[in-house]
Amino acid sequence: MSNVINSERIPNNVGLSEDKRLQRALEEWQPNYLKWWNEMGPEGFQRDQIFLRTAISVDSDGWANFGHVKMPDYRWGIFLADAVKDRTIGFGDNMGQPVWQQVPGEHRNSLRRLIVTQGDTEPASVEQQRLLGHSCPSLYDLRNLFQVNVEEGRHLWAMVYLLHSHFGRDGREEAEALLERRSGDVDKPRILGAFNEPCTDWLSFFMFTFFTDRDGKFQLLALAESAFDPLSRTTRFMLTEEAHHMFVGETGILRMCDRTAQVMKESGKDHPDDLRKLGVIDFGTMQRYLNLWYSLSLDLFGSEVSSNAASFFANGLKGRAKEDQYEDHRALEGFYTIDRFNEGRWSKDDIPLRNALNEVLRDAYVEDCQRGVDKWNRTIAAHGVSVVLKLPSRKFHRHVGANANLPIDVAGNVIATGSFSAKRDEWLPSESDKAFVQSLMTAPVFDPKQMANWISPPKQGIKGRPVDFEYVRRDA
Ligand SMILES: [Fe+2]
Ligand SMILES: [Fe+2]
Repeated sequence: MSNVINSERIPNNVGLSEDKRLQRALEEWQPNYLKWWNEMGPEGFQRDQIFLRTAISVDSDGWANFGHVKMPDYRWGIFLADAVKDRTIGFGDNMGQPVWQQVPGEHRNSLRRLIVTQGDTEPASVEQQRLLGHSCPSLYDLRNLFQVNVEEGRHLWAMVYLLHSHFGRDGREEAEALLERRSGDVDKPRILGAFNEPCTDWLSFFMFTFFTDRDGKFQLLALAESAFDPLSRTTRFMLTEEAHHMFVGETGILRMCDRTAQVMKESGKDHPDDLRKLGVIDFGTMQRYLNLWYSLSLDLFGSEVSSNAASFFANGLKGRAKEDQYEDHRALEGFYTIDRFNEGRWSKDDIPLRNALNEVLRDAYVEDCQRGVDKWNRTIAAHGVSVVLKLPSRKFHRHVGANANLPIDVAGNVIATGSFSAKRDEWLPSESDKAFVQSLMTAPVFDPKQMANWISPPKQGIKGRPVDFEYVRRDA
């Protein structure tokens, strides 16, 4: 049973009050965090009452407590999933040995880097999404946006706790730096590419939560296998929250597909210009946004061939998603074949499995994405519309790894650089697509009975409340 102390300044189930030094250090970081939240969190909604779930313990009934709160009063806490008794390392060279409660000196730098890289994505996404409230399609959606935002803030807390408790002065410095970098800033950008991209409309937001938060899911699944037990327990609990973020993305796009297909059926029109005039987003535009966010998110898994991935695995720092499902937990034998484009032609390269583990994780991710896309397509088909959304080739529009910056089309063929530029606007959001999407989303919908025209209402509300519930009480 987790022993949750909710009355302290920082709610936690890690016995924070027994470690006064750590408690003091985190209490000193807390006002800096709140300062960051007030500066970079959702703009213009900090005094509103939002129907949020707050984790108050990790038990099945305690981790999702619902009620109206102002975002700055959200109780950001530190929660580790319950320890697994006698847990042993499940993969790599140290398989079968007891897991670590402390950071082994020789893995200190690598673990710190893994934690900082994960931690940096959390505030980054809040920064990317900070203006979206001003164009929300409904109060239901506005509340979901803020739920995602406060939980990304909590994920930052989760990583900062590890830095403070296990990495001494370096960890404290990294925790400060996490509040200093800014998404998209040329001088002090966030660490990973996708987290510096603008996310200023709701089509991007839903694609982001579907594709980019899903990268988060797979990184967390791989870290949940870690031999460093506090990291494993932290990420296991984060995964329960992450599921909601992907739900927001998947159902958001699904509702947009539903609405567009419905309007196509009712109007008998299918030309993008006609559909745009009818105030819905045509499927070509949706496909281009999909291509963008999918390719940006694929980059987050790193290079196809990676000696870092191999050593993280060998040393037990980062495993594969759901390591249990594999038979060979050492991954010492076996190869993974990757396509490489060299001197004008493709060749197949056999990579020792451990060096290809980024690609193995990416495979699991691609499969998971496809499941969601299939649901969208079933929704479109249910209206008798024959459009099919597709994941482009994973070689398309990549900026990391073997296919970085190659002119590759959506089907995965290398084409002339000039033809890529000529086709770019067919494959990726064009300036006019962006202007159109923005033009649909110029004003927020704050009436609980209303829903923007470009999206269908959800099937149900949150926590048994009706769809038209006042999920956000605006500060008059
Ligand atoms: Fe997160
Ligand atoms: Fe997330």
